[in-house]
Amino acid sequence: MDAITALKTRHSVRAFENRPIPREILEDIVDCGRLAASAINIQPWEFVVVTTPEMLGQVAGATDHGKFIAQAAACIAVVTQSTKYYLEDGSAATENMLVAAHAHGVGTCWVAGDKKTYAPEVCRILGAPEEYRLVSLIALGYPAEDPQKTKRPLSDVLHWGKY
Ligand SMILES: Cc1cc2nc3c(=O)[nH]c(=O)nc-3n(C[C@H](O)[C@H](O)[C@H](O)COP(=O)(O)O)c2cc1C
Repeated sequence: MDAITALKTRHSVRAFENRPIPREILEDIVDCGRLAASAINIQPWEFVVVTTPEMLGQVAGATDHGKFIAQAAACIAVVTQSTKYYLEDGSAATENMLVAAHAHGVGTCWVAGDKKTYAPEVCRILGAPEEYRLVSLIALGYPAEDPQKTKRPLSDVLHWGKY
């Protein structure tokens, strides 16, 4: 799948088939995350890949709108040092991984981390250093649904030359 097709056909998936994602695919997805743009190229991120039902259940249980992580094949947590641009950097890495996963035929959903009261608890479950920020959780699995979200049309959001 080429990059434009992957970007234009990705949708959040919250229901997954009960089959694992090969390790090399998960590794490639994270590889695409680590290559994201990063302010001053600090790359403040670490990626924690969780695949056991026990850990998936614990992480899911700590969230409010991410309970479906428990039924995912994997979850990637993006945790970062507390740098000035940690949120932008971690978000860039997250979006890269959503698109990379889709190109591999793997469905994903971004689950909020930053600003959530459960963020420190998820970091504790994952064993991340105390000062680290949880930017996002990504639920991953082979899609068992094909949801289509309505998007604002290009003509609404595109302003040539001036707002
Ligand atoms: C910062 C951020 C936080 C999100 N948090 C959640 C979440 O906690 N639970 C969830 O089900 N979806 C979450 N989403 C996914 C959005 O609901 C989804 O991207 C949006 O509805 C648009 O659908 P699409 O991804 O299919 O384009 C989040 C997305 C972003 C960017």
